[in-house]
Amino acid sequence: MVEALGVAVVGFGWMGRVHTQAYARLPHHYPRLPLRPRLVTVAEEVPGRAEEAAAQFGFARAVRDWREVAADPRVQAVSITAPNFLHREIGVAMAEAGKHIWIEKPVGLSADDARAVADAVAKAGVQGTVGFNYRNAPAVETARELIASGEIGAVTHVRIRLFSDYAAHPDGALTWRYERERGGSGVLGDLASHGADLARFLLGDITSLTADTAVFVPERARPTGATAGHALASGGEPGPVENEDYVNCLLRFASGARGVLEACRVSVGEQNNYGFEVHGTKGAVFWDFRRMNELAVSRGTTYQNQPVSTVYAGPGDGEFGAFQPGAANAMGYDDLKVIEAYRFLRSIAEGTPYGATLADAVHSAAVLDATARSAESGAWVNVAVS
Ligand SMILES: NC(=O)c1ccc[n+]([C@@H]2O[C@H](COP(=O)([O-])OP(=O)(O)OC[C@H]3O[C@@H](n4cnc5c(N)ncnc54)[C@H](O)[C@@H]3O)[C@@H](O)[C@H]2O)c1
Repeated sequence: MVEALGVAVVGFGWMGRVHTQAYARLPHHYPRLPLRPRLVTVAEEVPGRAEEAAAQFGFARAVRDWREVAADPRVQAVSITAPNFLHREIGVAMAEAGKHIWIEKPVGLSADDARAVADAVAKAGVQGTVGFNYRNAPAVETARELIASGEIGAVTHVRIRLFSDYAAHPDGALTWRYERERGGSGVLGDLASHGADLARFLLGDITSLTADTAVFVPERARPTGATAGHALASGGEPGPVENEDYVNCLLRFASGARGVLEACRVSVGEQNNYGFEVHGTKGAVFWDFRRMNELAVSRGTTYQNQPVSTVYAGPGDGEFGAFQPGAANAMGYDDLKVIEAYRFLRSIAEGTPYGATLADAVHSAAVLDATARSAESGAWVNVAVS
């Protein structure tokens, strides 16, 4: 039997829209899921934005104040897609009100914030899913299995890159993302949080690191109106960029493997160039988000001049079969969010977590905290999870 699950979305910018679309698509891709989302409330502080979202997507209510969502017994699950500085307050309040939460990364401004939300979720006995969508790519799940099975030998080193140009334009508006108080870190929370999660998903815990950060576009124009996503602005008062555009990190893993994590939000000529190269004693596996249904794999016993083959993800890989019938049919970014929504609802239905949890968010945030400390001191720093 299929039961309705009342859901709400708090913050209707880019991610609010993507979460909502994912809820709507769930019955198409996962018809056997015993829960079916019912869009109850959208909460958004920009005047008119919630009403527009309700009209377009069919939420029963549009509100300005997210506290109304916390108090509403018709809402059982909440997407928290507001800016980072609100994650802790909203996440804790929703969990305390008994709502399951699907919360965007990085889950607050610090590892402390992520821990507070994780603790509230554990105490309330609700489910908590986190927006580390890249680990949902079927090819990435297969890469993880391939590494775990020893097919590339013992992992020696990894390079993880997240390069983008979303902040490269000098007229990119000075939104919450560039402020310490509302955004926290810069490219660390925005992109490196995904990289830290991917690194751990593939290779296990990171124990220590050393890092360097830089700001390359030190000033931007303040927006003259409401913004969503990576809006351009001109004519506004100039203001300082308060957090880093770039980070470069050397990693040591508990396994003994070594790694490099590099991320930049102002890389002209780079559009969503996210990926990894994992090397082992017998082989290697490469993944690039822009061709996210492919893996390049080198395996065998020849070591030198060993060929690299392209392997297309297909129905045997992760959740691929819920989207396409055969290998090499492309999936896209939004599909990764449908997978995340599926795992969120499955966690609720079965009372056991599937996919990225708040514990994963705490680990990722602990790596970011260590990165910031190392960038300041120049020293190697241990990653402190608890
Ligand atoms: N997983 C991913 O790939 C991914 C991608 C982009 C963003 N994110 C994360 O998602 C979150 C949102 O990012 P975005 O790109 O959608 O930002 P955005 O600026 O497009 O949207 C945020 C929305 O929240 C609204 N908001 C602000 N204060 C609010 C309040 N008090 N109550 C209700 N709504 C409020 C804003 O008006 C805006 O509409 C961030 O934490 C970001 O790190 C994740």
